[in-house]
Amino acid sequence: MSPPLGGRKAFVRTFGCQMNLNDSEHILGVLLEAGAAAADRPEAADIVVVNTCAVRRKSEEKLYSYLGRLARLKKRRPFVLGVAGCVAQVRQAGLLDRRPAIDFVVGPDGYRELPELVLRAAESPVVRTGHSPDWREIGPEATARANPWSAFVPVMEGCDNYCAYCIVPFSRGPEKCRPAGRVLAEVRAAAEAGALEVQLLGQNVDSYRDPGSGLGFAGLLEAVAAVPGPAWVRFITSHPKNFGDDIIRAMAAHPSVCRALHLPLQSGSTAVLARMNRGYTREAYLELVARLRDSLPGLLLSTDVIVGFPGETEDDFEATLGVLREARFAGIFSFRFSPRPLTAAAALPDDVPLEVKRRRLVELQGLQKTIQAELNRSFVGRELTVLATGPSPRGAGRCQGRTEGNLVVNFDAPAGLAGRFVTVRVTGAGPYSLHGAMIPG
Ligand code: SAM
Ligand code: SF4
Ligand code: F3S
Repeated sequence: MSPPLGGRKAFVRTFGCQMNLNDSEHILGVLLEAGAAAADRPEAADIVVVNTCAVRRKSEEKLYSYLGRLARLKKRRPFVLGVAGCVAQVRQAGLLDRRPAIDFVVGPDGYRELPELVLRAAESPVVRTGHSPDWREIGPEATARANPWSAFVPVMEGCDNYCAYCIVPFSRGPEKCRPAGRVLAEVRAAAEAGALEVQLLGQNVDSYRDPGSGLGFAGLLEAVAAVPGPAWVRFITSHPKNFGDDIIRAMAAHPSVCRALHLPLQSGSTAVLARMNRGYTREAYLELVARLRDSLPGLLLSTDVIVGFPGETEDDFEATLGVLREARFAGIFSFRFSPRPLTAAAALPDDVPLEVKRRRLVELQGLQKTIQAELNRSFVGRELTVLATGPSPRGAGRCQGRTEGNLVVNFDAPAGLAGRFVTVRVTGAGPYSLHGAMIPG
């Protein structure tokens, strides 16, 4: 019997976070398993899936403008058009009314059924949304990895925290955890396929509990770190309120666990944190940072910050700048508050004027730039292990890579270097990257 999608070509475009990058590897993997071949652009595809992000209004708008392009393309050259991911789950059938070019809408729990959805959608539009309480297992056999040397491994999905601004609990549904045995099986498979780096993924990895044994995240991390092969193990995202000392000890005990941690702050004001429903205070966050720095010398921290949350005063904003000065993050993702449907904050007056939000964002990013420039300069003269990721956008003949602490390094090296550890002597540093030369070895 010929496979259901034999002879067709599939293209997947991704918006959003690492979770979505990994989901797109599943989406493509499931389609390839059903006999499709991969296309490198929508113009060459019979099936186009857009994997979407709903976290801010801008993320959703990007989708609509991309769909406009695809609708024009579809008039010239027919294909099956699917919308997957967080906007699909939140907007559901409403997307079909908004953009009639769409043939199917599929939420994150429907990816296993994609071959069937594609075939049905060729007849009439299909909507497959909703959350299942069970883990949707899509194993390594149906994961089309973008980079075999850096493997995403999902450990949990969904969120029960309901931060007041955040749409994710609605788009990803309630928290559910992947059985530890399956996580470890995927890590072993990735190691056998040559992964140098494993990235454990989830909206709140530190609230992980194995559904069978009750093993927590610290235990899972230790078990993953014990798998021979991958030299670097990372995880994202951690919630400050769940980050226990057992996880710090697990990190300290295993040199393969990278000395890098993404720890979203959101605001440095305890009053704003309370209104955001974050579950920690400014002091608790800074104490956690101090404990981490004590136990993990050389740790590089990164964070997320929102400016202009409803009711944020100048003093609140100053408190956020104060945490940046004290915590000295190596990187931040910063955003202006954007009211999202279904969230608690959407009912609050969006009372910080746009120009104030803009000014605060510029100020925050300016301060962070200074901190990063100083921090990065401290690496000049050192030799660092770098995972080469491909050509550098900063000029021909140069490569780019990342350090254990997730710093970007541009360096002189033979072209085509990717998926290898190299040693780089750092000769200079700017606020956003280091540069240097590879030491042949
Ligand atoms: N689970 C993670 C956490 O606990 O922080 C990440 C959540 S979200 C996918 C990534 C970041 O987007 C958040 O940390 C937050 O800074 C930002 N974000 C979420 N909702 C937002 C909104 N409505 N407006 C602006 N930024 C938002
Ligand atoms: Fe969103 Fe908060 Fe959950 Fe993170 S912890 S996904 S910010 S609700
Ligand atoms: Fe966006 Fe969904 Fe990730 S809303 S940030 S793609 S979990």
